[in-house]
Amino acid sequence: MAGVIFRNRATPWLVVLAVLTQAGAARAQYPAPVLERPLAEAAAGDLAEGKRLYNAQCALCHGIDGGGGYGPSLLRPSFARAADDAGLFTLVRVGIPGVMPGFGDANGPKRSWQLAAFVRSMTRAGGATPPGDVAHGRVVYQARGCASCHVLGGEGRAFGPDLTAVGLQRGPAYLRQAIVEPAARVPDGHVVVMARAKTGPAIRGVRVSEDAFWVHVRDSGGRLHALRVSDLVEFRRESGASLMPAYGSLAPADLDDLVAYLSTLRGQR
Ligand code: HEC
Ligand code: HEC
Repeated sequence: MAGVIFRNRATPWLVVLAVLTQAGAARAQYPAPVLERPLAEAAAGDLAEGKRLYNAQCALCHGIDGGGGYGPSLLRPSFARAADDAGLFTLVRVGIPGVMPGFGDANGPKRSWQLAAFVRSMTRAGGATPPGDVAHGRVVYQARGCASCHVLGGEGRAFGPDLTAVGLQRGPAYLRQAIVEPAARVPDGHVVVMARAKTGPAIRGVRVSEDAFWVHVRDSGGRLHALRVSDLVEFRRESGASLMPAYGSLAPADLDDLVAYLSTLRGQR
């Protein structure tokens, strides 16, 4: 986890570092509050406050619409890490050690409840598969050669991210944008770089790793280049650049079908 990343993705780590330590300390000191009312009982005012907190504390990682980003999409009927209301209430207070900060200390029990209720309301609103013909979406996926860069269920070429569970990771709006306007969202680990050694051509590709001595870059043909840092005469990170072609020319119906298909992909990675 290093380097300069797309700005939406670099910031979360500052939050993690700042908050994780506090969360751990708070847990040890105070008895955990218990869930007193089901989240579905939240009134409009509670949800408005929950939304305000969500935008300030969570949107950075989960997307303003909950559709995912650095963290997974929250637009789904159930969470692996929070089986029920009580679990969700605990999760937003305590966080996930080393991964996601807990805000219970900052928010207190009432606002934590409002926040959890808002997350649940987003989930209810966005949990369904978006409209579209899933079977035809799969045909579009194959016809457009997406597998030449993406692995799905163990098949395809691993140039871009694995899409096996992308329906859990990303909401429909995110998927749509990733397809028609890929540069808008470049996931962590897919920083595009341009590197040129003293001898040899310029290489543009995805940075696989980078340390004090070596940079490894995978070009769009799938070839891995190992470049010695001391030999480099040029090295640029193109933040926000994407190596995925934009599919803005897809017919609207095909795009709907493709998004619907990707939303159903919920396999384990
Ligand atoms: C620093 C980034 C970050 C922030 C800030 C953050 N999260 Fe997360 N969150 C994650 C990551 C990463 C995961 C996935 C963890 C895993 O399962 O490995 C996650 C998981 C979750 C899950 C569980 C998903 C599941 O299926 O189990 C929920 C719910 C959640 N976050 C809600 C929130 C809420 C609400 C907030 C704001 C209070 C928040 N998160 C703030 C990064 C973040
Ligand atoms: C030339 C290689 C290439 C092709 C072809 C390609 N992609 Fe991608 N895709 C990538 C790369 C690389 C990324 C990582 C982000 C970036 O660089 O834009 C990506 C990102 C994505 C994402 C976002 C994943 C996430 O978790 O954020 C989705 C969804 C996606 N691609 C779907 C598709 C679909 C659907 C097709 C076919 C219509 C396709 N891709 C074709 C290379 C490709």
